[in-house]
Amino acid sequence: MSFLEYIKENKARYEDELISFLRIPSVSTEPSHDPETRRCAEFVRDELSRIGMDNVAIYETARHPVVFGQRLDAGEGAHTVLFYGHYDVQPVDPLNLWTNPPFEPTIVGDQIYARGASDDKGQVFLQLKALEALLKTEGKLPVNVKVIIEGEEEIGSPNLEPFLEKYREMLSCDTVLVSDTPMYDYGMPSLCYGLRGLCYMELEVTGPNRDLHSGSYGGVVENPINALSRIISKLKGEDGHILIDGFYDSVRSVEPEERKELARLPFDEAARKADLEVGTFTGEQDYSPLERIWARPTLDANGIWGGFAGSGAKTVLPSKAGAKVSMRLVPDQTPGEIAKLFEAYVKKITPPGVIVKVTDLHGGLPAVTPIDSAGVRAARRALKEVFGREPFLTREGGSIPIVNSFLKILEAPTVLMGFTMPDQNAHSPNEKMYLPGFHDGVRATALFYKELAKEAK
Ligand code: BES
Ligand code: ZN
Repeated sequence: MSFLEYIKENKARYEDELISFLRIPSVSTEPSHDPETRRCAEFVRDELSRIGMDNVAIYETARHPVVFGQRLDAGEGAHTVLFYGHYDVQPVDPLNLWTNPPFEPTIVGDQIYARGASDDKGQVFLQLKALEALLKTEGKLPVNVKVIIEGEEEIGSPNLEPFLEKYREMLSCDTVLVSDTPMYDYGMPSLCYGLRGLCYMELEVTGPNRDLHSGSYGGVVENPINALSRIISKLKGEDGHILIDGFYDSVRSVEPEERKELARLPFDEAARKADLEVGTFTGEQDYSPLERIWARPTLDANGIWGGFAGSGAKTVLPSKAGAKVSMRLVPDQTPGEIAKLFEAYVKKITPPGVIVKVTDLHGGLPAVTPIDSAGVRAARRALKEVFGREPFLTREGGSIPIVNSFLKILEAPTVLMGFTMPDQNAHSPNEKMYLPGFHDGVRATALFYKELAKEAK
């Protein structure tokens, strides 16, 4: 049986096994989920063994473990690919907005709904199933393949760079393959060559040392919620320009050539607005929406709290208020430098009567990957074979912090070949994966390895 026949025959089983993977609530940021996150690593380990990988093992880190496996059948002269993915997922809240429980995967039509369905368990699983199909039908892989699946991507991969340093030899490769980005749209395969970075900060504003009756003190004591709101409103102008001193100093401008390429991509602004039910897109008007999402930095409050938010009214002047604020970065900004500028600016604009504590939660570097590598050439041919058209070359606004470290530590370029759709509700309630995209991804990945074997090393 050919590997393509094998993939066709095993579709139903592949979906059943994906469901088992999606059932495990591996929410990396929540310590209460640590045992399940561990169980998820064990699931991945067992799956790597089942499909026929060698040297399969769990590597401990300071928090969530990394799972490794490899097949080096192709020998020293052949390409070596390192596939990277993550088994951890984002928190599920707000839980009440889910139609089905997030860890009880539910198939409706062509979509499977569950937390992690697309980000990134569905994509990791399709990769493993491509390896399975090749191994079970051919007994070996066309190129050497190493696999690392980590459990901390959604919290900024704090322990993965030390892992790469420590196991540099074991992980040495010519190409890194990542499936953690979406396709440009349904039926539009994509290779992504750029990701934004991230700088994630927390603010805590303290006014009086305890909550006060707002009648007795309102008018003389600064209210931390009001002060925090003023701080947030001064971070970004209405024109989308970020007001932090020095913020744009190391922003690499988008070259005219690239702007031309991006302008060629089909982008139905009206349809996107209608889908989100927003009347208008905001932001820097000198840049197109795709440029604003992919190649320009931005700043967003991700959460805000303080005072009384229960039902009814309570006249209170609270002691504290807080917010989480993240900034998406572009080359050549670095999270460390931006965190310093952010803190200095916040201190400068903090009104009298309150104190502010600024904490750097985590960050990741932006990345731009080459589009002329052997991996990209092989991926282009594989995607064309499966989808019947040339892939779109895209950038993305999201972040995969470790991509930069692959280049720095392993000196290998990354191919970002993803199979989810832009409407898959990643990080949001009712996350889903388009099942035909899953199966296309299995085929395209198996073909990718075949095509890579034809490329000179
Ligand atoms: N799969 C995403 C990255 C992504 C999102 C790529 C959207 C392309 C488009 C990844 O799992 C993710 O969510 N990363 C985090 C990283 C952060 C926590 C450091 C992100 O972008 O918020
Ligand atoms: Zn994610």
